[in-house]
Amino acid sequence: MIIVPPIKSQGIKTKLVDWIRSSMEGVKYERWVEPFMGTGVVGFNLRPPKALMCDSNPHIIHFYHGIKTKEITASRVRKFLTKEGNKLLDSNGTYYYEVRSRFNEEGNPLDFLFLSRSCFNGMMRFNRKGGFNVPFCKKPNRFAQALVTKISNQVKNVAQLIELGDFTFKHQDFRQTLKEINESDLVYADPPYIGRHVDYFDSWSEEEERLLHNGLNQSKAKYMLSTWLSNKYRTNEYLFSIWKDSFISSKEHFYHVGGKEKNRNSVTEALISNVPLMHSIPTNSMKLRIARGESQLTSSKQRYPIPVQLSMNLQEEEPGRGLGGHS
Ligand SMILES: C[S@@+](CC[C@H](N)C(=O)[O-])C[C@H]1O[C@@H](n2cnc3c(N)ncnc32)[C@H](O)[C@@H]1O
Repeated sequence: MIIVPPIKSQGIKTKLVDWIRSSMEGVKYERWVEPFMGTGVVGFNLRPPKALMCDSNPHIIHFYHGIKTKEITASRVRKFLTKEGNKLLDSNGTYYYEVRSRFNEEGNPLDFLFLSRSCFNGMMRFNRKGGFNVPFCKKPNRFAQALVTKISNQVKNVAQLIELGDFTFKHQDFRQTLKEINESDLVYADPPYIGRHVDYFDSWSEEEERLLHNGLNQSKAKYMLSTWLSNKYRTNEYLFSIWKDSFISSKEHFYHVGGKEKNRNSVTEALISNVPLMHSIPTNSMKLRIARGESQLTSSKQRYPIPVQLSMNLQEEEPGRGLGGHS
């Protein structure tokens, strides 16, 4: 069973957890480290004995730290969402914007959860001043009892995992996390895609990609990096420059643009690592495969079946722009 986290984000890796888990079979480590934890879905599902989970977005960290300290509990979440959900319904949805303004002034983690679960398409996006700016999903009855129960159960599940494992949450830039890594760690890095979009907490440059590569290699830790290999328009050339001395596993992944069946696109996801993973090949061999027009997939579809399609509404991509679906 996949544990689904209570916070949503367009970068969430829920559909790739099983693949990541099977790819790292046999890789030994003492501590799991995520410099870019996002919703935390990967770390929570791998149930490491010990974990350091970091992100530059303070709201994510406050939320999970609140669960760890028991300031945020399933029953508090249930009460809060029921009360605030009723106000949302009574206002025919306009209350969403009151909560959004309140959150942008006070940063309450429960307001963050409310917004994450009632905003348009579960997006997480912040403006230049760091203000959450996603519009309402336009469903005034969003927090019906069934959804409130589902979200409070998600909080309960994550709280149990945090209690069982030795989880530490830190609000910090990846440069700081790189300094805290040691040889016995396994690092899972899932940075934003280069040039994909600009968000206050979530933008990424080539220089940062190089820093991450160099920092990971200097740390001597084992690492895995989630990124994309290709989409129908182009190939991620950084894999053959910055990450050229690595191993690569790849998997086809489908996503919908605008949720319509006819707009089904695929992106080839990549897991880059400094140690061989199940079915991985050297990145140079992948380069040759691409040049020869051979398959870019390192494992058969039978072994890793096509995941259930995403219902997320991703931006339509124009040739030469954007980098495909990040799920
Ligand atoms: C693609 S998401 C991670 C998704 C995550 N694996 C999941 O499944 O939910 C990238 C994350 O990196 C964080 N981030 C962006 N720039 C960062 C930086 N300089 N240092 C640390 N975290 C950063 C963002 O806030 C975002 O949560």
